[in-house]
Amino acid sequence: MLSDRFGRSIDYLRISVTDRCDLRCQYCIPKGFKDFETPEHWLTFDELTRVAALFARLGTRHMRLTGGEPLLRRNLPELAARLAALPGLEDLSLSTNGTQLRHQAAALRQAGVRRLNVSLDSLRADCAREISGADSMTAVLDGLAAAKAAGFADIKINMVPIAGVNDGDIEAMVAFCIEQGFVLRLIEAMPMGNTGQATRSPDLAPILARLGQRFDLTPSAITLGAGPARYWRSADGRFTLGLITPLSQHFCATCNRVRLSVDGTLYLCLGQEARFELRPLLRAGVSDDELEQAIRTAIELKPEKHEFVESPQKIVRIMAKTGG
Ligand code: GTP
Ligand code: 5AD
Ligand code: SF4
Repeated sequence: MLSDRFGRSIDYLRISVTDRCDLRCQYCIPKGFKDFETPEHWLTFDELTRVAALFARLGTRHMRLTGGEPLLRRNLPELAARLAALPGLEDLSLSTNGTQLRHQAAALRQAGVRRLNVSLDSLRADCAREISGADSMTAVLDGLAAAKAAGFADIKINMVPIAGVNDGDIEAMVAFCIEQGFVLRLIEAMPMGNTGQATRSPDLAPILARLGQRFDLTPSAITLGAGPARYWRSADGRFTLGLITPLSQHFCATCNRVRLSVDGTLYLCLGQEARFELRPLLRAGVSDDELEQAIRTAIELKPEKHEFVESPQKIVRIMAKTGG
């Protein structure tokens, strides 16, 4: 098992398969952003699988495909099938914006993806457009329906509430998730990248209090997946709410994950610059033992915590580059 300087076990690898996206969510990619990785820097499926296999050998149990928008990477189900077959891996999941899901849900399920997290910030088409920069909502709803039809049972909706934009939509989103059997997660917007927009999430505490009363929610010790969300459940068991609060109540002390970006960089923390470049080693033909040693060295670099609150301007790297 991999363990860092602070005694944290690292058993969750997030693999970003592209930094590109068909949307421009205002908290993620600035409009007009062009500085995407060139294709010759993209790790191939062989390279991604090789790194993932070494992580699995080192005790990684959970892997999640991310981006950018992962479904933009051609033949993603082929990669998913190779990862799902890795010895030791218990949990292969995917985070997507859902716009392409209707075309790929069945193939991804077939390939061995077990769990899906889908971003959806509003059920009002104009608001979804304002946030994502495109007419995305109908395609995402179709994608969610296709995912259910393909047999995905554990679908979570990721919503980033933005003060004055979609924070009035939370109740409607709850109703939708109850009806559809989805878990709703509210995520505090993290200050990453020069997105050119002052995106700020509202205080989630009063929202939790309000939803708690209305839906009779109590804190739940359930772990749904391997991420940092805390959960509440309604008394009738029909609704589960998750909160991801990197700013108001951070979870760095229990952080279990690192990120591999499409260009072969291991990012040790979302909110710090610490990183380790694996691509030069991969392309210099080093042995598996040398790569494994490099991964161990990288894990030593994992910082104790992010500084989003103390230094909100610090991370100019956009979220889609790191892998959300
Ligand atoms: P589950 O296994 O289903 O719990 O997935 P997850 O919550 O780990 O994955 P997802 O891609 O849905 O991430 C949801 C949100 O949590 C995203 O906004 C992530 O950026 C945020 N998040 C995940 N890991 C970290 C982390 O280590 N630090 C911070 N600050 N945010 C994180
Ligand atoms: N802050 C918080 N969450 C973000 N995401 C993307 N950018 C940010 C940000 N700046 C979320 C997306 C997606 C998840 C993978 O990351 O909404 O659900
Ligand atoms: Fe794309 Fe996801 Fe970023 Fe939105 S949050 S721009 S969907 S990568």
